[in-house]
Amino acid sequence: MTPRGRHFFANPGPTNIPDSIMQAVSHHTVDFNGPDFLEVYDACLAGLKRVLRTEQHLFMYTGTGHAAWEATLVNLLSPGDRILVIETGHFSENWGKMAADLGIEVQTLAADWRRGLDYAALDAALAADTGHAIKAVCAVHNETSTGMTLDLPRIRAALDQARHPALLLADIISSLGSIEFRFDDWGIDAAVGGSQKGLMLPVGFSFTGVSDKAMAAHQSSAFPKHYFNWTTMLTRRHRSFIGTVPIALFYGLREALRLIEQEEGLDNVLARHARLAEATRRCVRHWAGNNGPQLFCLSPERVSDSVTSVLMPEGHDAEALRKRVGTMNVALGTGLSRLNGKVFRIGHLGDLNEPMLLGTLAATEIGLRLQGVPHAAGGSEAAIAYLAETAP
Ligand SMILES: Cc1ncc(COP(=O)(O)O)c(C=O)c1O
Repeated sequence: MTPRGRHFFANPGPTNIPDSIMQAVSHHTVDFNGPDFLEVYDACLAGLKRVLRTEQHLFMYTGTGHAAWEATLVNLLSPGDRILVIETGHFSENWGKMAADLGIEVQTLAADWRRGLDYAALDAALAADTGHAIKAVCAVHNETSTGMTLDLPRIRAALDQARHPALLLADIISSLGSIEFRFDDWGIDAAVGGSQKGLMLPVGFSFTGVSDKAMAAHQSSAFPKHYFNWTTMLTRRHRSFIGTVPIALFYGLREALRLIEQEEGLDNVLARHARLAEATRRCVRHWAGNNGPQLFCLSPERVSDSVTSVLMPEGHDAEALRKRVGTMNVALGTGLSRLNGKVFRIGHLGDLNEPMLLGTLAATEIGLRLQGVPHAAGGSEAAIAYLAETAP
């Protein structure tokens, strides 16, 4: 039987889709080269650039974040080029694996998945590369697997200080629209994003923000490419998308931008995420008493405001807990790759409010009791207390 009541989706992406966006995407088909659609499209492109906080370039593809990862690599690099991948979790590891499969030489800067990057190690790696063999540094702004952020301005400063010309490529798939990100101010060269997280849209398109410096590097990229070729895209009216444009998603994006920029305001969106994230962390920190589940991220200044990864006590299976909570119609995120069974994730990004979060936390706490997982009871109350104290 399908459980009664509303589905509580607490996966860190895709995310909940607001009703008004669902209505907007159920738009009848129109000519994607016709004037009505082009007006919507151009406004969306300008809006998305504002959310990225860039006045530079933007290319879009029908595909998920993986597509944008690949597009970014093949447009900026050449076979045999070396990149430095800051490995902080499952997604950074996989971006590196993709690059290696494409024939890029991958130098990995390993980081402790629970503590994050040692920035001094980054400084040292850049200083050691006196011949500037490293053509790009790949950084996942918000590691969705571990619930930890990277300090992108600090990485920019490391490159500048070392006078290293490598491009700075950022994955902002689970940070855009939920954690502060500033493309131009932070000196990012390429930023990879997708529709289905902070933008609250269905899965379907992804994109790369590109700096002028990166556009110059694109001119000498020797990777074979067709669907992802930015130069070809520039010859098209939409300056993106080789082929049919995903029309419905743009009606959705227009509505998403209205919600983010006009109705709530981007700064308020970010503040809402920070508050709900802190409530989640207070809940988990409370559970951690009695040898209970604890925050996976051990660096308080690096915790993510879009997802919290929770480490189960030794001998207790995160997947069994997730399944139990699932019977209450609550979807928690799974532990990825080496964290599977050890970690579960609470997504708190996108279209979310206090009662939705509290429903998830309370159901998880019921699950902890039913599964016999040790914990200090009352984590949900710690979240309630924080939300009451900080009510706008
Ligand atoms: C940080 C990050 N990078 C990349 C991806 C991959 O994106 P997609 O699943 O849209 O291909 C994800 C997906 O969750 C992600 O969170």
